[in-house]
Amino acid sequence: METRISPALNSQGKLLDESIAEAVKCLRAGELVAFPTETVYGLGANALSAEAVARIFEAKGRPSNNPLIVHVANIEQARSLVREWPAEAQQLAEAFWPGPLTFVLKKQNVVPETVTAGGDTVAIRVPAHPVALALIEACGFPLAAPSANRSNQLSPTTAEHVKRGMGGLVALILEGGPCESGIESTVLNLSSAGPEVLRPGVLTANFLSEVLGKPVIQAVGAGVAGSEVNLSPGQLLTHYAPRTPLVLAASADVRPALERMTAEQKKVGLLTFGKTAPDNLGNVLAAQEIMPDSPEAFARRLYAALHNMDECELDVMLCEMPPDHPAWEGVRDRLQRAGKSYSQTKL
Ligand code: TXA
Ligand code: MG
Repeated sequence: METRISPALNSQGKLLDESIAEAVKCLRAGELVAFPTETVYGLGANALSAEAVARIFEAKGRPSNNPLIVHVANIEQARSLVREWPAEAQQLAEAFWPGPLTFVLKKQNVVPETVTAGGDTVAIRVPAHPVALALIEACGFPLAAPSANRSNQLSPTTAEHVKRGMGGLVALILEGGPCESGIESTVLNLSSAGPEVLRPGVLTANFLSEVLGKPVIQAVGAGVAGSEVNLSPGQLLTHYAPRTPLVLAASADVRPALERMTAEQKKVGLLTFGKTAPDNLGNVLAAQEIMPDSPEAFARRLYAALHNMDECELDVMLCEMPPDHPAWEGVRDRLQRAGKSYSQTKL
């Protein structure tokens, strides 16, 4: 299959209606279309067609027990897909939609089980990207869309990343610029007792808890090796991984780790953040990225930095771990899934 990239915005950021129309045509025919959201690019199909949704699993090589997020245009469309719309959902949707927040709720029958991996709940969000919103509105049906990468690979934050990872597997990629938010949405379970974050994101548990005026729990077992918890496979330990081994080091360990790696003749790429980038490194580094020191800006840049380094034929990527602070939850989560900590690594 040939993969086309169609620009969906002109240079002034105005929607190009012909591209949206072309995408709608593909989606109505049950084909897949990759499209930009504010978090990462999604691989979309008609969420109400089990047949179309099955193609997503096939193209990604995604295990059928990993449910998909359904993208809708507004609260009303979200409500049409669920049996219960709790007060918390209304409050958070008013505060954060369109935005990087996904609710897990009890599903209506119209949602095929292919979408929910056989489960009784469905994950739903309204994406904050003009192209995604225009596309969903023009389709008239909701779009099931995981990140537009092969299963367990890095998520794409540009149309080019999608093409590199899924070229030949998707008919059309709508190009809408680099993603603003940069890591996947926060997944919040609202289908049982207390609100629980199943996958951290830029909107942290603390932040949600402030809006709700009650505690929001961070799911335990998330990412823990050997854990039986499998409610949200985004919690699995290896996920979002680059091809090159990624080693995570506390700030104080960066220099010793680097010295050891270079003494072993390794071709190293270094990712540090803010002002703590070690100086006087000489010419030992094959690649270097200095990341911003705010969690939001770091998240925006994270996947692009990993994609870039992954193209450099390195032996190892060394990344300075951001602080263990709630604001960094989402970024630390993705790094921990993509790499191994220096203290646990025999190099
Ligand atoms: O930002 C995002 O969420 C992006 C963009 C495209 O919207 N999408 C995304 O989709 O990251 P995906 O498929 O890569 O991740 C979906 C996550 C997985 O961790 C999945 O297990 C979880 O949502 N999930 C989906 N449905 C669920 C359900 N019914 N119960 C629990 N977790 C669910
Ligand atoms: Mg994904």
